[in-house]
Amino acid sequence: MSHTNQTLGEFIIENQSSFKYTSGELSRLINSIRLAAKVVNHEVNKAGLVDILGAVGDTNIQGENQQKLDVYANEKFIQTMTKRNIVCGIASEEEDDFVAINSQDENHQNKYIVLIDPLDGSSNIDVNVSVGTIFSVYRRVTPVGTPVTIEDFLQKGNQQVAAGYVIYGTSTMLVYTTGDGVNGFTLNPAIGSFYLSHPNMQFPEDGQIYSVNEGNYIHFPKGIKDFIKYCQKEEEDRPYTSRYIGSLVSDFHRNMIKGGIYMYPKSSKNMNGKLRLLYECNPMAFLAEQANGKASDGFTRIMDIEPTELHERVPFICGSKNMVEKAEEFMRNA
Ligand code: AHG
Ligand code: MN
Ligand code: MN
Repeated sequence: MSHTNQTLGEFIIENQSSFKYTSGELSRLINSIRLAAKVVNHEVNKAGLVDILGAVGDTNIQGENQQKLDVYANEKFIQTMTKRNIVCGIASEEEDDFVAINSQDENHQNKYIVLIDPLDGSSNIDVNVSVGTIFSVYRRVTPVGTPVTIEDFLQKGNQQVAAGYVIYGTSTMLVYTTGDGVNGFTLNPAIGSFYLSHPNMQFPEDGQIYSVNEGNYIHFPKGIKDFIKYCQKEEEDRPYTSRYIGSLVSDFHRNMIKGGIYMYPKSSKNMNGKLRLLYECNPMAFLAEQANGKASDGFTRIMDIEPTELHERVPFICGSKNMVEKAEEFMRNA
C-alpha cells in the first residue's frame, strides 16, 4: 500500500517482494540510481554558478577544465552502479562501446545490464531549462560466469525489467517502473530524501498537447504532416496546444500528467529520426505502456523492435493512447 509520506527507500523495500526476481539485487540497483541522481542533481543545480565557483578556487571546478555536465553525470552514474556487484555491464550515450564490469571476485556473477542517457536535453542546461537522466535495465542473456557481450545489450524493449527517468526541474523527481505501474518520487532538497508524490501515474487516454520540433515540418513524412494539420484543425476539442521543450524527459513528463503526444519523426535529413532506441525510446516506451500510454515508430510497437546496434536511432511517437493511435492511422493512410 502507498502512503503519501513514504520515502523511495521505504517504497523499494516494501515492494521488493512483488517483483518476480526477489533476490533484492534490482532493489539495490534502483537504490544506487537514487544515490547518483542526488549527486548529479546537486551539480545540475549549480550549473549557472560554474564561473563564480571556479573564480573562488573550488577544487573540483577549474575554469576551462570544467567538465561538461553530461560527462560528469555519465561518470557519476557509472561509478555508483559499478561499486555494487549487481551490474555486469553499462552502455551509455557518452560511451562509444559498452563498459564491462567485473564483479569483485572476477567471476562475472552480476546479472543485470543498464543502458543510460546520463543527461538528456543537455543543450537546455545553459538556459536554465529542465534536463533529465533516462535508464533502462535488463537481465543479461549470456550465462552468469562468462564475460558480458553485446548480445546482452541488444535485447528488445519488451525484455526490460525496469526503466525510469530523473527530471531535474522546478523540483527534482525520480519516476520509474519495474513492470508493475509507474510511480513518481519528489526530492525534498532540505532533507535529501525522495518522497512518493505521484503514485500510479497514468497517461490520460486522450490529450490536447502535441510536442514536436515543428521547425523540421518541411522534412517530415506525409503522415506526420497530416497528423499535425489534424492537431491544428478547428473542431470541438481542437486545435490542440503545441508544447516543445526539446528535452524528451520533460516533454514526456508533462504529457503523462496532462495528456499529450511527443513525436520525433524521421525526416528527409535523418532517415531514422534522432532519438536512440536503447536508452531513450525503449525506457520511455516501457514507462508509457505501464502508465496506460503507447509508444510506436509510426507502424510498430517500439518495444518489439529488434535492435541491431548500441546507438541506433528510431522514429518515436509516444504518449496518450488515442493520440498515438490517431498518428499511426495517419501514417498508414499517407
Ligand atoms: P541529448 O541531450 O541526450 O542529446 O538528447 C536531446 C534529445 C531529446 O531530449 C530532445 O527531445 C531532442 O533531442 C531535441 O532535438 P531537436 O533539438 O532536434 O528538436
Ligand atoms: Mn537524450
Ligand atoms: Mn544525453
